[in-house]
Amino acid sequence: MAKKVAILTGGGDCPGLNAVIRAATLKLSRAGYEMVGVRRGWRGLLDNDYVPLTKEAISGILHRGGTILGTSRTNPMKEEGGVDRLVDNVQQNDIWATIAVGGDDTLGVANKLHGEYALNMVGVPKTIDNDLSGTDYTFGFNTAVEIATENIDRLHTTAESHDRVIVVEIMGRHTGWITIMAGIAGGADVIMIPEYDLSVAEVCEIIKRRHAAGKNFSIVAASEGAKLLAKEGEEQMVTQTDEVDAFGNVRLGGVAKLLAKEIERRTGFETRSTVLGHIQRGGTPTAYDRILATRYGVKAADMVMAGEFGRMAALQGDAIVAVPLEEGVKERKLVRQEFWDLAQTFFA
Ligand code: F6P
Repeated sequence: MAKKVAILTGGGDCPGLNAVIRAATLKLSRAGYEMVGVRRGWRGLLDNDYVPLTKEAISGILHRGGTILGTSRTNPMKEEGGVDRLVDNVQQNDIWATIAVGGDDTLGVANKLHGEYALNMVGVPKTIDNDLSGTDYTFGFNTAVEIATENIDRLHTTAESHDRVIVVEIMGRHTGWITIMAGIAGGADVIMIPEYDLSVAEVCEIIKRRHAAGKNFSIVAASEGAKLLAKEGEEQMVTQTDEVDAFGNVRLGGVAKLLAKEIERRTGFETRSTVLGHIQRGGTPTAYDRILATRYGVKAADMVMAGEFGRMAALQGDAIVAVPLEEGVKERKLVRQEFWDLAQTFFA
């Protein structure tokens, strides 16, 4: 009997998920494995919700954004009897191995299911935030940077025409990877990210210096997780609600609006704000992300065939390697000082 391999996509979607599904499925089916897709991340393993991954199912999906399997932020560890049910479902359905495609939350669960429940797990690192350790880049990040850069370019022409400051809010929950890369590529005049302190007063000084030197507009790229000074000595991220998801994540959003108001008040320059939001996660993946995702999918298939469980595919330099899942989820990969120094070179 053919060994059954399941694949699931968990957490926020991102461009390139379908390329991973296609690559892993093609490689493993050709090697004689039975491939099954799990619907909506860990939710599908809790509810026994599967789809057969046939040749037809994975045809024409390479360039498509989103995930044909659906996704969710379900955390089986947080549901009453969740893990036992999940382990039971895996055994009852003869699932020999599972490829989990996700960020730190999804891969954290995969790591526990492997370490504590002896399930055969292989991980693939995904997130537009690029904050997973153990890998140089996650797929989806490059596409998000391209989208954010294109939008910064567009904001330049309207800001310049109206003599305005425009604050653009860019995704990245706890890390400023997309903001700093798109900010550098798009020539943002000020960049604010969670990893490095830049007060509102300093932002205003930079803008004032720039305008005093003859410029009539400015673009501020602010990470949604950038901290604003709430009270004396207390900096905090701006959240939309107090609610947290099943992994304890807050919903960020609103920093650009607050910052724009403050910049206008302190500098006297007319200021607007724009939130890029989920646009950064939608649409087709860049060629870079399609190739990276394809390499990850093939590597995950190779790892399954070699019985290399408890590990994830990773990019190190130019090579795709297998690293322990633990290494990917143990800490967040923060923006390095080198990039912050580079960004600051261009502040007025
Ligand atoms: O983790 C990816 C991400 O897009 C973050 O950048 C963002 O803060 C979060 O997901 C948004 O989550 P949701 O789509 O669940 O609102």
